[in-house]
Amino acid sequence: MNFLSAMFPVVRPVLHKLDAETAHRLTIAALRFAPSARPVATPALRQKLFGIDFPNPLGLAPGFDKNAEVPDAMLGLGFGFVELGTITPHPQSGNPRPRLFRLGEDRAVINRLGFNNDGAQAVLARLAARGDRPGILGINIGANKDSSDRIADYVAGIKSFGALASYLTINISSPNTPGLRGLQSRGELLRLLEALGNARAKLQRPVPMLLKIAPDLNEAELDDIVACCGEGRIDGVIISNTTLSRPALRSSHVSEAGGLSGAPLFELSTRQLAKFHQRSDGRIPLAGVGGVEDAETAFAKLEAGASLIQLYSALVYQGPALVSRILSGLDEKLAGRSLSAIVGSRSATIAAGEKILK
Ligand code: FNR
Repeated sequence: MNFLSAMFPVVRPVLHKLDAETAHRLTIAALRFAPSARPVATPALRQKLFGIDFPNPLGLAPGFDKNAEVPDAMLGLGFGFVELGTITPHPQSGNPRPRLFRLGEDRAVINRLGFNNDGAQAVLARLAARGDRPGILGINIGANKDSSDRIADYVAGIKSFGALASYLTINISSPNTPGLRGLQSRGELLRLLEALGNARAKLQRPVPMLLKIAPDLNEAELDDIVACCGEGRIDGVIISNTTLSRPALRSSHVSEAGGLSGAPLFELSTRQLAKFHQRSDGRIPLAGVGGVEDAETAFAKLEAGASLIQLYSALVYQGPALVSRILSGLDEKLAGRSLSAIVGSRSATIAAGEKILK
């Protein structure tokens, strides 16, 4: 157990007395001093997807390190990859505070941050200063709130980060930028993907492009997205972002506006993942995110169709030791089988409504 994991039980009560965003800023500040180390890798957990050798399938979801302040510290916790962002072309301050809420009784978070970030230039400078340290870094790109041409903002993101990122995620599913989710509709999405494909073709290397979608899509909308993702337009799909829905919750913050993440998102996001896997016949690599908090929930994402898994909210409650706990649990559950033997093995039944956690 490293120093950060050992300290978490001691500092957690203090952090959780603070406003959630202040606690997050303090955590990032402390992580700046964490030694960098390698991700956990065991032969069974390795796999190659869209040309990238992933040491293990568990990644840090975007939103934690929006500005690339602590990517190496997070890789050092054992994550197989870290996704930074969302980053917009220009810096923006996001929505007024308070805008981030812990729902402790529900092991959940509500946020309406609204893409607060330092902007592409500042993040590029930080990544350049990092040099050629190893580690898989995905970069999640978005559009500025006041942009008059959102597609142009994503194209700018491809140009800015195409050479540096291990992969890029096109985030069209944040609920906190008005109108952004409209890019998920068939006509808009095709227009967006065509522009992105053209921008990528001009790069020196064809950086993998993943699309991140919302969990709040009906079946026809899912079908449209599957159709748009064909013909090599997209290398993978990440399911899902936070939800605007409110399953039964106990915490007092339940009525706050914003996107809900953590345990209450598990069922919805895993069901949508399985449906997408079914509808795409397993042809598109998927990343499952939403409510992963232990080896059971992580393994269920694999069974539902995910080749990769990401998490964020559970870190708030369980701290950094969670990462190695999940990875050793996954290794045990695989019991000598390959990841590919598990991925999607229950997607048909989960899509049809089977109880996910047994
Ligand atoms: C997020 N998430 C997110 N996603 C994204 O694509 N870009 C972003 O900037 C953010 N920002 C963000 C901030 C905060 C505070 C949270 C809690 C979440 C969504 C995140 O990446 C993930 O999709 C969901 O949180 C679901 O995973 P968990 O948290 O249930 O493991």
